[in-house]
Amino acid sequence: MENFFLQFPSTTSLLVTVGILLVFYVFFSGFNQRKGPPGPWPLPLIGNLLQLDPKSPHTTFYQLSKKYGPVFSFHIGPQKMVVFAGHKMVKHALVSTDAFSEKEVPPIIKDMKLTHGVGFTNGDTWKEMRQFALTNMKDFGMGKTIIEEKILEESQQLIEVFMEENGKAFDTARPINYAISNIVSSIVFGNRFEYDDPVFVSMVGRAAKNTHLMGSALIQLYNIFPRLFGWLQARKQLVESTFVNRRHIKQLVKGLQETLNPQMCRGVVDSFLARKMQLEESGNLNSHYNEDNLLVTVVNLFAAGTDTTSATLRYGLLLMAKYPKIQDKVQDEMNRVVGSRQVRVEDRKKLPYTDAVIHEIQRVANAVPTTLHRTAEDTIFQGYFIKKGTPALFLLSSALFDEDEWETPHVFNPGHFLNKEGKFRKRDALLPFSAGARTCAGESLARMELFLFFASLLQHFRFVPPPGVKEEDLDLTQIVGFTLTPTPHELCAISRV
Ligand code: HEM
Repeated sequence: MENFFLQFPSTTSLLVTVGILLVFYVFFSGFNQRKGPPGPWPLPLIGNLLQLDPKSPHTTFYQLSKKYGPVFSFHIGPQKMVVFAGHKMVKHALVSTDAFSEKEVPPIIKDMKLTHGVGFTNGDTWKEMRQFALTNMKDFGMGKTIIEEKILEESQQLIEVFMEENGKAFDTARPINYAISNIVSSIVFGNRFEYDDPVFVSMVGRAAKNTHLMGSALIQLYNIFPRLFGWLQARKQLVESTFVNRRHIKQLVKGLQETLNPQMCRGVVDSFLARKMQLEESGNLNSHYNEDNLLVTVVNLFAAGTDTTSATLRYGLLLMAKYPKIQDKVQDEMNRVVGSRQVRVEDRKKLPYTDAVIHEIQRVANAVPTTLHRTAEDTIFQGYFIKKGTPALFLLSSALFDEDEWETPHVFNPGHFLNKEGKFRKRDALLPFSAGARTCAGESLARMELFLFFASLLQHFRFVPPPGVKEEDLDLTQIVGFTLTPTPHELCAISRV
């Protein structure tokens, strides 16, 4: 008994000492600063995977953001990632710091040897290739009259193909994919392809299939557990198909190289080859201008520029068939302002309703719902510690459907982009192209394409459901791939001219 009382003061002082040390640790070791973002508790190995809806992962993340706030952590298998949600937070994290401007490179991208070019590189290679792609896409017409002419010529081709259907129901996917691919091709190769050219047909077909496979649940599973699921057929298919694509592009590049005149470049590939020659002649053999960066930049431009734009345009036509009153208003405005002459980019400011409809199509089409970056260095963001290398998922869809920003977020409502006087109004929460350092390199091209293709098609056709299908039965559900695409469907294009 005595002994115990004698020991008590020393136990107390021990506890006090430990307490003081803990307080010191908390305040001076930065413990409180190293608190990561909140999030669901992860299970060993599988993390939070059981909570994820594979058919619509962005919806799961949006729901979780309501519980945990706009910055939260989520474990994809054993890998912790941080998710940014809601217009304000997504934009803030993308624009206010460079900490999240690196791209995460999933295992499948490494297998497909896409770790060159612009889409999945970081550091000096990315800087040089992005600058090169931006400057040259502008030189070959992006945002200028040259590409406007090319888009209008391509719209004419598309209109002829639609006319050939004679008002019967058909799937718009192929011809629209061809038309959009041809615009990228004009900029990249300096030429377009006929819609029945077998090389072109297989190239576009493969690209569309790859985009779909890339976002499939099986490939996501492989990305999370590469050691366990390397045997998957989908992975082998994807790798094989990318190599075939690369061979085709190599062949096309070879043809351009043989006829290259560095004084008269026909497209982005010619400019690349001319720059490569110039550097080699000056003895610089170690530059970024090598074959891998050329081939993958071409793959990147086709992959990033085709499916996104064509899925948005196809979704737009589907929405017009579903909401005929909105289609009526677009066509009335087109009749009044443009009449039967060819529509031009400069008409856009006189077509506020049509412009609002196109912006609203982009919002609900939600072509790229998420984009995956990586934390470049140990970072404190919004009071949370985020470790270097942590994948950072930006939920672009949460800005497009943000309940604090849009009057009717889940309704197709062109009024979101019109003021009280019926004039077009910009909305900051429309972020389909992302923002910050990695923002879409083809935004101005995509915007011009969407306007000219959509307006020209609506000038020439009325889009209606196939016979026997009611407007309300048209299915707006989308398929989750690398981009969101409309479920396969048919429409009738009834000539208005
Ligand atoms: C409606 C059409 C389009 C949409 C919605 C779209 C959207 C996006 C998004 C969300 C990103 C990722 C940005 C990020 O990671 O933060 C991106 C990247 C990119 N886009 Fe687009 N895009 C479209 C059309 C195009 C077109 C037509 C081109 C060019 C032909 C293009 C070229 C690129 C490139 C090269 C990148 C990679 C940029 C980088 O990592 O630095 N895109 N796009």
